[in-house]
Amino acid sequence: MRRPFIAGNWKMNLDRASAVALAEEVAKEAAGVEGVDLAVCPPSVYLDVVAAAVAGSKVALGAQNMYHQPNGAFTGEISAAMLCDIGCRYVILGHSERRHILGETDEDVNKKVLAALEARLTPIVCLGELLPEREAGRTMNVIRRQFNGSLAGVHAEQMARIVIAYEPVWAIGTGKVATPQQAEEVHLGLRKIIENRYNQEVAQSVRIQYGGSVKPENAADLLGQPNIDGALVGGASLKAESFMGIVAGLGL
Ligand code: 13P
Repeated sequence: MRRPFIAGNWKMNLDRASAVALAEEVAKEAAGVEGVDLAVCPPSVYLDVVAAAVAGSKVALGAQNMYHQPNGAFTGEISAAMLCDIGCRYVILGHSERRHILGETDEDVNKKVLAALEARLTPIVCLGELLPEREAGRTMNVIRRQFNGSLAGVHAEQMARIVIAYEPVWAIGTGKVATPQQAEEVHLGLRKIIENRYNQEVAQSVRIQYGGSVKPENAADLLGQPNIDGALVGGASLKAESFMGIVAGLGL
């Protein structure tokens, strides 16, 4: 049985005081929740203060990005070891905003995934098609290409530790959520891709989150699908009430 995993991607939002206040509130409300993994992913400059705010709670810390090199002359970048040092368990990699706004390629994401695994961080690897790709019936081709490119050279035991987030780009920040059926179809397809490349055991153990306009109102339907193992939440993770409202959608 896969343990559900709900993570908040705060993106480039909040300030120091509001980030700490949100983390403290989520940590407090998470105390009474069992049977789910929770994480918050603040902007990197607030990782340290948020780490302190969630210390000893059920809420883990994740970063939104990292660089693949271990150290050196890479101005502005942050290594996997630094994220571990500051208390991160997770790192979001290959988010569509990094792919489409910052120009990250599957090859870039792949280097980061391998470096994160090496450092014992759990990568949350994001995949998702653009609207024209969906409309052209190319969704699974895009997902397969991103999966193969972003996860090249990943061994079976490493794959079992990775979290995948299916985030259709047209559903991110748009209020247009994928229907539970649309999401489930891609999640099932992804599990088949994993099974073909590795084996059934690995495919059954990998957690696949859905991301894209998840809210308390649609969470239960999405999270009730057999192959949707959690959510990567953007906008609705910026308030403890809506983030915990999504967790409540698991019906635990
Ligand atoms: P929204 O929930 O704001 O659509 O963002 C989803 C997302 O990109 C999470 O990584």
